[in-house]
Amino acid sequence: MSKLPAKVRIVDVGPRDGLQNEKSEVPTAIKLELIERLADAGLPAIEATAFVSPKWIPQMADHIEVLERIRRKSGVSYPVLTPNLKGFESAKAAGATEVAVFGAASEAFSKKNINCSIAESIDRFRLVVDAAKQSDIKVRGYISCVVACPYEGDIKPEKVAEVAGALFDMGCYEISLGDTIGAATPGKTQAMIQACLKRVPVEKLAGHYHDTYGQALANIYASMELGVATYDSSVSGLGGCPYAKGASGNVATEDVVYMLQGLGIETGIDLDRLVETGAWISAYLKREPGSKAGRAIAAKKS
Ligand code: HMG
Ligand code: MG
Repeated sequence: MSKLPAKVRIVDVGPRDGLQNEKSEVPTAIKLELIERLADAGLPAIEATAFVSPKWIPQMADHIEVLERIRRKSGVSYPVLTPNLKGFESAKAAGATEVAVFGAASEAFSKKNINCSIAESIDRFRLVVDAAKQSDIKVRGYISCVVACPYEGDIKPEKVAEVAGALFDMGCYEISLGDTIGAATPGKTQAMIQACLKRVPVEKLAGHYHDTYGQALANIYASMELGVATYDSSVSGLGGCPYAKGASGNVATEDVVYMLQGLGIETGIDLDRLVETGAWISAYLKREPGSKAGRAIAAKKS
């Protein structure tokens, strides 16, 4: 059996990937409380918001206020999405120390999500990365549709590797591989990662798996078998993507931490506090917590 990583870094993307898809408007104060509760639960990285057009994503329109008002905890990073130089400059002015550009391995998805081709997006991202280097701001690179696209169907691993290589070569410190519609299975996930490994070292790869088909935990395990040790997840499984209709949220952070604890893999996260946070935000949104482990742990305590 292959050796799994001893430690895993989890990036909670709930405040961004989760809340960008909410129908009701979530007040800035609730977003801030969610981010701070996640930091207090031990999350080392929390994706806080997105500096995108409010016409495209009204849920993230309060991005300046969110980023400026976070009570930052030392050792925790608060990355924000920046699709272009305009978003980057605005994020920088609001105090960003880490940003993320987000492209796709599918032309159709790139067009729908950020209104440009893959090649155009790479040119835009290079401007962001060059500006970020001058300000000592770290840039993460996302790729959507790494296994399947809601518009184009199956995506070739070689296409993902090509985009991953371009993002890595321009200076992104990590490439987060997004199964946007949660359609991947472990074999397809491994084939995609194997292709990326020809262009990017394993310690620079992260998995970002949505859980639409209930495969995300299995896909994380399969990715760990290849040595990937950073994963994005969303507290209580919040979210989805506005340009991927029907896709559900990221795998729930509580479920990932429960699995990793069972495997003896260190995350630095306090599962009880995380479960409380998942229950709190779910109660605010008037729904059952989206994490099975979270529900089971809470039920045991009541
Ligand atoms: P565009 O319309 O092509 O941009 O949008 P433009 O440059 O032509 O500008 C049009 C207007 O937008 C102008 O305003 C600009 O000022 C403004 P107007 O003159 O009409 O009043 N604008 C901006 N405003 C705020 N912030 C900015 C910005 N840039 C331009 N940064 C753009 C291009 C990229 C802005 C647009 O397509 C957009 O905002 N897209 C965001 C899409 C998005 O947020 N999707 C969800 C996140 S990605 C995701 O969920 C996937 C991921 O989780 C991984 C996975 O699961 O696969 C990361
Ligand atoms: Mg996502």
